[in-house]
Order: sequence, then structure tokens, then C-alpha cells
Amino acid sequence: MKVLVVGSGGREHALVWALTRFKHKVFCVPGNFGISRMAECEDIYPLDIPGIISFAQKKKVDLTIVGPEAPLVAGIADEFEKKGILLFGPKASAACLEGDKAFAKHLMERYEIPTARFTVFEEFEQADDFLKKGKFPLVIKASGLAAGKGVSVVNSYEEGVNFLKSSMKEGKFGEAGKKVVIEEFLSGEECSIIGLCDGKKVYFLLPSQDHKRLLDDDKGPNTGGMGAYAPVPAVTQDVLNRIVAEVFQPLLTAFEKEGIDYRGAIYAGIILTSSGPKVLEFNCRFGDPETQAILPLLEVDLAQICFECALGNLSNPAPPVSTAKRWAVCVVAAAPGYPGDYQKELPISGELIGGENTIVFHAGTKLIDGKIVTSGGRVLGVTGLGETLAEAQERAYYGIGLIHFPNMHYRHDIGAKGLKHLKEIS
Ligand code: AMP
Ligand code: GLY
Repeated sequence: MKVLVVGSGGREHALVWALTRFKHKVFCVPGNFGISRMAECEDIYPLDIPGIISFAQKKKVDLTIVGPEAPLVAGIADEFEKKGILLFGPKASAACLEGDKAFAKHLMERYEIPTARFTVFEEFEQADDFLKKGKFPLVIKASGLAAGKGVSVVNSYEEGVNFLKSSMKEGKFGEAGKKVVIEEFLSGEECSIIGLCDGKKVYFLLPSQDHKRLLDDDKGPNTGGMGAYAPVPAVTQDVLNRIVAEVFQPLLTAFEKEGIDYRGAIYAGIILTSSGPKVLEFNCRFGDPETQAILPLLEVDLAQICFECALGNLSNPAPPVSTAKRWAVCVVAAAPGYPGDYQKELPISGELIGGENTIVFHAGTKLIDGKIVTSGGRVLGVTGLGETLAEAQERAYYGIGLIHFPNMHYRHDIGAKGLKHLKEIS
């Protein structure tokens, strides 16, 4: 098959890697340096939908897989359908499950999908009144897409009102922050459950766990994700079955009843609270960096599954499975300054090829004058694979230890929660 991947991060490198493993001819727009070593890349940006369509037509691709949410929310799937070209990813009306948190929360309410109690506000004064009477902590979320920065856990009225002002009045997140969701604070371990959906049926990928905070022990600011591992000991088969029964089945019912033709990856960000699993968010795409941990464990042809989903006819839906023969741990190395303003074009040296049980996924790298340099906040991720979680973790850290760029930083505890769980149950 000829497959086009849209995007340029570590997730897209993992998608390209999984596709080339099954000998597909892969293209990527725009890609990055690491991706360019295994796929034909062209400098077309993910929101240049007409540009991507003409590239797909020129290369006669059989299937396009979209990495990031922005082109999906902007309607790339709708435009591909108009041209009769196959794409894996939901249409704009379905991608708003991620692109409009208020829409997602109301849908969850209608179909009794467990989630934090919430109220939606479009007027600053009303939100402000609500906060004045609120019991803290509370969580405030910009309703639209805010590149992962639109969520804040606030511990006092002052903190809350400052966030509200910057979001609703000062336009910190543009239009995306004019409407906000204020919700109850939940606590528990988080996990990501990703399924490949043909509209009616789902092929479940292994549960994974992201590490969103910058520093060890979940300290510091939120980031796009500093590492992930799969599978997740906290997500036992019973927990997973419950997530499917309480979240995915009602979601599929919602798709049917509301006429939502969802063909693409559906990502449920779940928090395991003492009163059961609850949805923190839905994303309309693969997770980053979860994909870099999950796909190396996938033993079947990803292109075939995505192709069938895009056609609306998945022949072998996979039930949710909580364990696997192997484990994967992905550790992300970030540039100095990330997740704030970060330095770019720092020279990268060391072992970037990986080995039998380590894969180096590039996220923000490029080639300038024959030298590999950083070009993003999250620069690369090393995935270690092993027969045990400890072995996978050791390999990931060994691999990342062989790579260097000035003031490179990464977390040292990716997978630690999983190991703690395994100790507790053994
Ligand atoms: P979201 O983009 O909605 O997943 O939020 C980003 C992160 O904020 C989540 O991964 C959680 O760590 C945290 N978060 C979001 N909603 C809540 C909530 N209701 N209670 C506690 N933490 C939350
Ligand atoms: N890893 C979180 C996300 O992809 O949104």
C-alpha cells in the first residue's frame, strides 16, 4: 500500500515506523529528519489541506493517516471525502469531540459516560460568579483547541479568576478560550485507551500511560507528554472491561444515535478514581508520546486496520487486552526552556540509529548543512522494548544516555508507577 502520514512529531515517526515494518511505501508531510530516513517527505504543512490533497493525488496514495488534531478539526477528512480519496481520521463534525470540550462534555452527559461534573460558561461574569462560590481545587479548561495549554487546575479564587481573565477576556488561547468548562477536580492514576474505529466497531490498542508533567514525581508544569509506557499494570483486565462497558460502548451508541460517522483513532484519557474510571478528555487521534510505546508492540499491519476503518468496514475488531508478551517504555528528551520558549538548532550527537530493542523516534529534528540539530521543544524519544517492564525501562534509559545535545533534559521515572504497581501485586 502507498500510505501518506500527515504531521512531523514523534507520533508520526512511530506511525511511519510501524507502516514501513510491513513494507508499505510511506510518504510524510512535512515529516522531520528521522522520518526522512524511512519515508519520502515534502514540506507541506498539516493545515495546508489543498496542498496535502494534491500531494496525495500526485503520489496516488491508497490511504492517508492524520497525526495531529488541528487538520482534523479543520475538516481534512471532509475535503478528502469530497475528492474520493481515503483518509483515516474523523470528519470535523466528529473531531469536535476533541476540538470542543463543551460538546464532548454534553455528549458524555447525554449518554451517561462517567466524567467530572461540569458547567460551561460563555460569559466571563457568570464564570466569575461561579468561582466566587466554588470549592477548590477546580479545573478550568478552554473549550477549543489550545495546543495542550488550555487546562489549569486552580487552587483558589485568585488563581481561577486570573486564568479566566487571560482565557476569556485577554484572548490567550484566541477563540478557543472564549468558552470555558469548569469542572470538578478528580484524583487518581491516569491512562490512555486508544481504539481504531470504523464507525461501529473498534480495534483496541494496548493501554498506555503518559507522563504529562515536566519533572520527576509528576512535578512542574504540564507538557505535551514527557514519556509513556505500555501496557499499564494499573489497568487490569477488569478495569479495562469496565472502561469499555462504561465509556466506549455508550460512545458507540452516541455515534449511532447522533449520526456521527467516526472513522479514525479515538483516544479516551481516563482517570482511575476511587469511584471508578472517568473520562478526562477525548482526543480524535493517536496520542503523543503514547503511540511511540504502543505501536512497537503491535504485531499486525497497522495500514490494513486503518484502511478498513477508513472504508467503514473493520473485518477483525480486536477486543481490549490489558497485557502483552512485551513491554515498551518511551522517554522523551526536551530542549532547554521547554515547555516554555525553548532554544532551537542545537547540535545533536550520539547514537541515533537505535538497536534491536531500542528505537529512536525523532520529534523535533532537522538537518542543516549536513548536521542534525534540534527544531522543536520535544526533540526525540527513545523507546526501549523488553520481556519485562524493568528491562524495557533500562533499555530506554540506556538508549537516551547515548544521545546528547546542550542542556537536554528528560524525566528519570518513566514507567516507575507501573513498576510500583507490579511490586504491590506480586
Ligand atoms: P485534558 O487536556 O483535559 O486531558 O487535561 C490535561 C491534564 O489536566 C490531564 O491529563 C489531567 O492531568 C489534568 N486534568 C484534566 N481534567 C482534570 C480533572 N477534572 N481533575 C483532575 N485533573 C484533571
Ligand atoms: N499524550 C497526550 C496527548 O496526545 O494528547
